[in-house]
Parts: sequence; C-alpha cells; structure tokens
Amino acid sequence: MSAKSPVLNVAMVGHAFMGRAHGNAFRQANHFFDLPLQVVPKVIVGRDLGRAAEAAGKLGFEHATTDLDAVLADPDIHLVDVATPNDSHHDIAMAALRAKKHVMCEKPLAMTLAQAKAMASLAKKQKVRVALWHNYRRAPATALAARMIQRGDIGAVRQVRAVYLQDWLADPKAGASWRTSKKHCGSGAHGDLNAHLIDLTRALTGLEFESVCGMQQTFTKTRPAGRGKKAKVDVDDAFCFLAKFKGGAIGTYEATRAAPGRKNYNCVEISGEKGTIRWNLERMNELEVFTDAGGKDGQGFRTVMCMDTPHPYAANWWPDGHIVGYEHTFVHHLADFVLSLGKGAIGKGTRFAPDFDDGVAVQAVLEAALRSAERGTWEKIAK
Ligand SMILES: NC(=O)c1ccc[n+]([C@@H]2O[C@H](COP(=O)([O-])OP(=O)(O)OC[C@H]3O[C@@H](n4cnc5c(N)ncnc54)[C@H](O)[C@@H]3O)[C@@H](O)[C@H]2O)c1
Repeated sequence: MSAKSPVLNVAMVGHAFMGRAHGNAFRQANHFFDLPLQVVPKVIVGRDLGRAAEAAGKLGFEHATTDLDAVLADPDIHLVDVATPNDSHHDIAMAALRAKKHVMCEKPLAMTLAQAKAMASLAKKQKVRVALWHNYRRAPATALAARMIQRGDIGAVRQVRAVYLQDWLADPKAGASWRTSKKHCGSGAHGDLNAHLIDLTRALTGLEFESVCGMQQTFTKTRPAGRGKKAKVDVDDAFCFLAKFKGGAIGTYEATRAAPGRKNYNCVEISGEKGTIRWNLERMNELEVFTDAGGKDGQGFRTVMCMDTPHPYAANWWPDGHIVGYEHTFVHHLADFVLSLGKGAIGKGTRFAPDFDDGVAVQAVLEAALRSAERGTWEKIAK
C-alpha cells in the first residue's frame, strides 16, 4: 500500500469482547496484509461515554461518543462495525445502511429471518459492501479444508458432523445476562454457536440446507441476576438438530454451553465418498485428513499442520510453522473485506462472503430448527 492510499475510517459500536477482537483487527490488518485502503480506527460508539472513552484509549481509536446519529451523519466515516448484542444488530445496521456506510455486523445477523432479509435487501439497494463476522471461515486450516473439499480431495460430501461445546453455563450459579434472555439474544446456544456451525459447514461444503429436525433443553431455568435476585432463563442451554441437504447429504449439529470440561470445542467433520476432513478450534492450526490414497495397509488419518507458506494466510505472518491464534481469524476476515472493497463495482460480481445474504441463509436454518423444536416436526428451510 502506498503512502497515498485512501483511508477507510471506522466507527465501532460496542467495545467489550467482540469490540476487543475487532479493534485488534482494525489495528493489525495493514501491518500484515497489502491492502488497497489504510484502515483507521476512528471512533467507538458506546452507551456510557466514560467507558467508551476508556475502551477507545485501550483499543487505539481516536475518540469516543454516545451519539450514533452524529457518527452516521459524518461523511468521513466509511465503515460501521456492529459489535453489540443480537437485539441491536438490525436497528444499528439499518441506520448505517440508510446513511450509505459499509457495514460489518456480528452474528447472528438478526433476531428474525424477516429482519435479516430487510438488512440484506437494503444493503443491495444502497450498493455498499457488507460482512457478517463468521470469523471461523478464515482460520488457515478451515480455509485449507474448504480448498481441499472444493477441489474434490474427499469426493462428493455425504455427511456433516458439527459440534460446538462450551461449559460456562453448566454451573447453575453462573449469572444471567443478555445471552440468557430471549428478548436480547433470540435463542441460547443455538443462535450463539449453531450459527457459526451452519455458516462454517455451508462455506466448507457449498451445501444448502433443505430441512431440519431440532430439539432443545434448558437445564437451569433461573439464574442469579445480582442483589439476591433471580432472572428467568428462556433460551436453550443445549440445542441439537438433524439436517438434510439439497442433493442428498445429511448432517448432525449440536451446540451447548453446558458441557462440563468443554471450553470452546468447535469441531466440524466432513465425510465425502472417498475421504474425511476434521477441524477443531482448540487445535486450530491442524487438519485431520483421511483420503483413500496409499494402499489398504498404509491408510489412516494424517495431521496436516496448516502454517506453511502454501497454506491460506500463512505467508502473511511468520516463518513456516510459527502458528497463529483466535484473534488472527478476525484480522483475516477484515483483510479480505478490505481487499473486496478495493475491487470496487459493488453489486457487479465481486462479493465478500459471508455477507448479509449468507446471514439470511443462516437465519433461515436457525429459525426452521427453532420451529421444529417447538412443534416436534421436520421443518423445511424457508426461501
Ligand atoms: N464472531 C464470534 O466469534 C463472536 C464471539 C462472541 C460474540 N459474538 C457476537 O458479538 C456480539 C457482541 O457480543 P460480545 O460477546 O462482544 O458482547 P459483550 O456483552 O461482551 O459486549 C457488548 C457491547 O455492546 C454494548 N452495547 C450493548 N447494547 C448496546 C446498544 N444498544 N448500543 C450500543 N452498544 C451496546 C455493551 O456496552 C458492550 O460494549 C453478539 O451479537 C455476539 O453473538 C461473536
């Protein structure tokens, strides 16, 4: 990038867990990727000026505000990043789109399929670029798995096995938060973790869902809410569903925040007609690969370490074998997004994925599975 490269001024709404992950990406991307725009972390938008200003200082933004409208009216802001709880994504993103800003939004895209569709439709109408932060597509190992599957290394995909297991709500004394309230998050482990699995397995396999059959359970019905009070938990602790894909492949999905011992066990295994590929976030730079090459007595899974020069993103970082971590997936996601902005001609073929259309696809599966769990039936994915 030359010293004269134009800038991409960023306003980030929300500044806690994801704010830190995104803020790090906004600072790092130009240091490691050759990008057509210089990303400038400009302003953090929060609800409390003191806390937002403290976050801006820590995360390297120029200033902080509580006035989103003023930020959206500022022509010098080019990108609005939505890093807030689920129930605010739609309103913040729609306002940013109306102001013709590019938008990067956290997952799940929205609270309902109708909201997600409205967001995708307005993004197209405004001819801006949008992204959904499904960062797990962009670990070097998952990007390599997608490449291998797409070039036919395991043959046509037949089965998808996907689990995302955490344990921070296994303890009934763990406190209530927006993540345990349907009004604020829509669903529990389902929208939180199955959303990632749905997106990742769509990206890896190219398969589209046809119908799903789900079940859910809330093991802990109330949780401490401070000052001796209890809050009702009206979302799932665990959510499992079966899936049929168009074309005949089948899949199983399990998301839980109540599996003691499992911290962030995000694991997908894809079996094709002649091979299997498995990825687990807790060993995120490795892929387990079985293909039928090598003769019967030499067969077995091999572990591919995905941090050598030919692997996706690896050459942007360190010498071969010097591994990357969780935060790098966000840097990769942002770098690819900025590259897509550099290609211009939005709406004319160039596209960043996952965008809001992918968000609509994920939301349709989430919603069908929720309907299925309520009714005890197989449910078709809405168009
Ligand atoms: N991509 C991922 O891997 C990943 C991981 C965790 C969370 N998420 C998603 O990111 C989003 C945020 O989650 P988090 O873990 O950062 O939550 P968090 O509770 O840590 O942070 C939320 C932030 O939003 C602010 N906020 C809340 N309501 C707001 C509003 N109406 N307007 C402006 N600011 C508001 C809070 O003050 C806080 O700064 C959620 O949608 C979640 O599903 C994604």
